[in-house]
Amino acid sequence: MIAFFLYFAVYTVPMVKNKIIELRFSEYDSQDELSKEDQLLLNEAMKASKHAYAPYSHFSVGAALKIDTGEIITGNNRENASFPSGICAEHTAIAYAGSKYPGSVITTVAICARKGNDYTDIPVSPCGKCRQVLSEEEDRSGIKIKIILYGKSGIYVINGIENLLPLRFSSSVIRP
Ligand code: THU
Repeated sequence: MIAFFLYFAVYTVPMVKNKIIELRFSEYDSQDELSKEDQLLLNEAMKASKHAYAPYSHFSVGAALKIDTGEIITGNNRENASFPSGICAEHTAIAYAGSKYPGSVITTVAICARKGNDYTDIPVSPCGKCRQVLSEEEDRSGIKIKIILYGKSGIYVINGIENLLPLRFSSSVIRP
């Protein structure tokens, strides 16, 4: 009877391991608190957002990438009457960087968005697809990307895509 009870206790209690993932980032009150280099990059993202093509959502996103050569590459969202054919600002900039500067390494990205004419209050965070695209860039270069997300009420600075996309699908899984 005791043996049966022990068997029952040991083999039917699920051995679940509950885990917690910690995401780390810093928040700044205003862009003046950023380094001059990051302020400049953010400024370029802001300029790029002004040329977004967003006639459907009226949500204009700008992204600016700093690459290892020191160059800054910008992108904005390009919408389409066939909605899924639209492309996000981050994705536009990353594709542009890879095409104009083949093999370049992205070190920092700054992102901002405007609803109509005003920047968003809370920082705008890249969509899931753009996180995955940023993840591929980190995997390719082996360098963590600093991600700067602008909002009028605060700016988030995130070091590495792992802090935005935990448990991500990575190229290491499919490499032979
Ligand atoms: N958008 C971006 O450009 N980046 C993101 O990470 C999120 C969303 C764009 C896509 C669409 O044109 C508009 O914002 C509204 O979703």
